Amino acid sequence: MSNQNEFFVIKAKENGVNVIGLTRGSDTRFHHSEKLDKGEVMIAQFTEHTSAVKIRGKALIQTSHGTMDTED
Ligand code: TRP
Repeated sequence: MSNQNEFFVIKAKENGVNVIGLTRGSDTRFHHSEKLDKGEVMIAQFTEHTSAVKIRGKALIQTSHGTMDTED
């Protein structure tokens, strides 16, 4: 899939931000949870295995659709 080489960036604005990967396909479930502390950055892609990402906690998120903050 062409969009699978795009990266997105998540920067934690507090300790304990969770980046949760959800599976691609008919069975949508969590398959990975990454914990970021304040200032930590994760750079990731959508893949064959990951079609959605859920972010819990205060973070700055940068995608090809723009930059957004999770609410406090
Ligand atoms: N093994 C996962 C995958 O290839 C790693 C991964 C990629 C991931 N993007 C992610 C995990 C986003 C969490 C969130 O799909």
